[in-house]
Amino acid sequence: MGPALIQGASRGLGLQFSRALASRGTTVIACCRDPGGAEGLRSLQSEHPSLIDVVQLDVTSEGAVQAAAQHVQQTHGKALDLLINCSAILSPSGRGETSLRDVSMKALQDTFTVNTFGPLVMAKYFGPLLQAGQGSIGRQAAEARQQHAAVVVNMSARVGSIGDNKLGGWYSYRMSKSALNMATRNLSIELGRGRKKVICVALHPGTVDTALSRPYHKNVPADKLFSPQQSVGYLLNIIDGLGIDNSGKYYGWDGEEIPF
Ligand SMILES: NC(=O)c1ccc[n+]([C@@H]2O[C@H](COP(=O)([O-])OP(=O)(O)OC[C@H]3O[C@@H](n4cnc5c(N)ncnc54)[C@H](OP(=O)(O)O)[C@@H]3O)[C@@H](O)[C@H]2O)c1
Repeated sequence: MGPALIQGASRGLGLQFSRALASRGTTVIACCRDPGGAEGLRSLQSEHPSLIDVVQLDVTSEGAVQAAAQHVQQTHGKALDLLINCSAILSPSGRGETSLRDVSMKALQDTFTVNTFGPLVMAKYFGPLLQAGQGSIGRQAAEARQQHAAVVVNMSARVGSIGDNKLGGWYSYRMSKSALNMATRNLSIELGRGRKKVICVALHPGTVDTALSRPYHKNVPADKLFSPQQSVGYLLNIIDGLGIDNSGKYYGWDGEEIPF
């Protein structure tokens, strides 16, 4: 089984993906911008010292992404079977804009840099490793494994759906996720051209009890607020069933396709 790379692994869903994959025996390259401050990740690493490699990576720095890709090649070989881009911010203030009054050029740029440009630059530097993957993640039918090398998951959000937008607000976050969905579709085309293709999908995890959505949890019914364990369980179920026919699509935690 080839290694998986989780980008944004310090906490929340990224940390839970790392935990769940390591508990299956998968080697996890867990990237975060401040390894010293990522207590949950360090404690996971002490539980699985041979499976978790913690790598410093601020996804807003192209140089850091390139250096992380070089580290992975030197340490883990030239193949990667799964990349999950998890890191995101709602906005630099931690709250979504409620009207145009709250919009600022700087906040838009910062949000796009983390949520959209970062995942795309990850695909640029890790693309060759993914194209050399062993196809151990995704649908395991013999035919499916012959067709795909690896899987890229860009963690999106339902609020990135243009077709589904009935409430407005949250300009930076919504727009950054819509653009991430476009990047995912583009990637599925470019990385789908080789003999062994890379499956690329955008996934919505539900509303999950993490810091990102915490300011808004009081509006969410208890049965609609997932724990990270619950959400990652649903998402891994989708990831495990992916085949090349799913590439370029945008799915909710329940496996239903979301309109772009
Ligand atoms: N939670 C929800 O309800 C919800 C709903 C829909 C979609 N999502 C999506 O699910 C994904 C995971 O979110 P979450 O709920 O797990 O959020 P979270 O708990 O707030 O975690 C966000 C992660 O992003 C990392 N990050 C932020 N800026 C970064 C940077 N410049 N470089 C590297 N890492 C950076 C954080 O690292 P630090 O520890 O260094 O800050 C942290 O690991 C996101 O893409 C989010 O948009 C979440």
